[in-house]
Amino acid sequence: MVNVLFVCLGNICRSPTAEGVFRALIEREGLAGKVGVDSAGTGAWHIGNPPDRRAQAAARGRGVDISAQRARQVELADFDAFDYVIAMDRSNHADLTSLAPPAARDRIHMFLAFAPETGLREVPDPYYGGAGGFDEVLDLVEAASRGLLDDIRNRHL
Ligand code: 4NP
Repeated sequence: MVNVLFVCLGNICRSPTAEGVFRALIEREGLAGKVGVDSAGTGAWHIGNPPDRRAQAAARGRGVDISAQRARQVELADFDAFDYVIAMDRSNHADLTSLAPPAARDRIHMFLAFAPETGLREVPDPYYGGAGGFDEVLDLVEAASRGLLDDIRNRHL
């Protein structure tokens, strides 16, 4: 099993979207028994909450239901359990790097490193913006999910 954890700040917008989109891709590719998917936040504010309604609506627009997800915070054990710990932005990456045991730091990646064609390094935080920000998140997440799956196939499957 290859396990992937998507991480953002609140675990109610970007990382639940990534979890939902990537899981749908894994299922379409018949890899559900080989690749595990989860998400978490670096912050604690939204623990136990479902994804933001705007994130749910944007995902539903792409045929992905993320309504059953509940937010949780990243914990030390995640660096054991997950082969890929994927940050949405540089701030998430820095927080994960300071939390991780040094030997596990090479498990941390920027999500958009798997989508160089986007020309972006970070998935922008859509929380304080309009609905368009959530559609941009979906576009970036769909692109990076394909690149991440290619990397998993090349390195693990
Ligand atoms: P996320 O978005 O990190 O993509 O889940 C945010 C959600 C909540 C907050 C910030 C970002 N917040 O400050 O509560």
